[in-house]
Amino acid sequence: MHFISLNSEADFEGWRKAARALALNNVAPAGVTWTVAGNEPELFEQSSSASPLETPHGTFNVPGKFVELAQIAILHRDIKRFAILYRLLWRLRANHDLLDIATDPDVAQIAVMAKAVRRDEHKMHAFVRFREVGRERESHFIAWFEPEHYIVERAAPFFARRFADMAWSILTPDVCAHWDGHAVSFTSGLSKLDAPSEDRLEETWRRYYASIFNPARLKVRAMQAEMPKKYWRNLPEASLIKPLIAGAGRATGDMIAHGATEPHKAQKRPEPMKRKHSAPGDSIEALREEAAGCRACHLWKDATQTVFGEGPQHAQVMLVGEQPGDKEDLAGKPFVGPAGQMLDRALQEAGVNRDKVYVTNAVKHFKFVPRGKIRLHQKPNTPEIKACRQWYERELASIKPDLVVAMGATAAQSVFGKATPINKNRGRLIDLEDGTKALVTVHPSYLLRLPDQDAKAREYERFVDDLKIVASQMKKAARAA
Ligand code: URA
Repeated sequence: MHFISLNSEADFEGWRKAARALALNNVAPAGVTWTVAGNEPELFEQSSSASPLETPHGTFNVPGKFVELAQIAILHRDIKRFAILYRLLWRLRANHDLLDIATDPDVAQIAVMAKAVRRDEHKMHAFVRFREVGRERESHFIAWFEPEHYIVERAAPFFARRFADMAWSILTPDVCAHWDGHAVSFTSGLSKLDAPSEDRLEETWRRYYASIFNPARLKVRAMQAEMPKKYWRNLPEASLIKPLIAGAGRATGDMIAHGATEPHKAQKRPEPMKRKHSAPGDSIEALREEAAGCRACHLWKDATQTVFGEGPQHAQVMLVGEQPGDKEDLAGKPFVGPAGQMLDRALQEAGVNRDKVYVTNAVKHFKFVPRGKIRLHQKPNTPEIKACRQWYERELASIKPDLVVAMGATAAQSVFGKATPINKNRGRLIDLEDGTKALVTVHPSYLLRLPDQDAKAREYERFVDDLKIVASQMKKAARAA
């Protein structure tokens, strides 16, 4: 019998090296016992001297699909995984297509294990909640999580990308992952007692959760499947789940009675705005003032302020974006953050003077979810876009531009009053009902998000080409004037 001790539960490289040596030495699966350092059964050392493996010569190939599957399934908590994977490897040498036989017991078992690991990783991405310890420069964010499988090392890069600006640690009983802003490191597992339980972020999470909870769409079973009870105890919002479910029937009744777009009760400001219909006489300044008190949807509650459009009262062109981002929310001005810089660059290249156009957004409050110190942008949904459309309509009536440019899907939905695909409609002038022309293009943030540099350069050129249509319309109007 060959006893193989791997360095850790997630030691795929150790397993791969040992499995290769075993297979090249023709050691059948029944002749191997797998374990992990520290968990060796008693007398393991003595019996492991059985028959030393020769340094392997030669090689053999396995399908890439097997390697991918093995890298995931090896993270399953069942100790049998190492043996099943080796048996599969052994059998793949005789039958290269073995993985295609879904009914084969080894193939089926490994597929189930890989699925469970992926699901656990997904749950970890969704349910880790950081709590802040220390303040300001000393601050560090700590989360406690109990994964079902050995997924922490695999999941850690996701958190490093998402929470790149904050120092964090995810403590688990298996292994702890740490991020210092530069690199991920790992230390041994800890007990739950080492994770702090109280902090000021909890209230923010609870408020956010309560605000996105829609009683009319409550499906308790689906909710529990997505957020199994086992995770509830680590979630700040968990204390709300029972009361929200209990109150859902009454809340749905209230929603029906009041209508979905009923303004929220005043909390921040004593004077809620009264909805008006488009009045061509309203100046942009008057509209801006009125919109400062808008509560047509719930977004005003967490945002710093309404970010209204900006530009000349009689601009010939109106550019419409999605919603203010973090920087815009703080500055109270549209397109001043990274997407704004991208827009400025493209406008300049296309020959459009930003000072001559009116720039606004379909939704005028920043929608976000707090993650540590970061406020993560959230796409506005249809009720929020509809609730805010009155402002776009009134801006349109006040400015009376010749051309409206919808940048991205949210803007297009607001401009056309319905979901409007970008690619099918971009790059050409479309007549709106009131005689205004519309042009559809992508949102500058889309360009910022493209990971591939070539694609980014190509898409940027297309965006500039779209904006050149704006420039030529402006020139035409100037000649006609
Ligand atoms: N994205 C938008 O759509 N609008 C802004 O003002 C900033 C970013």
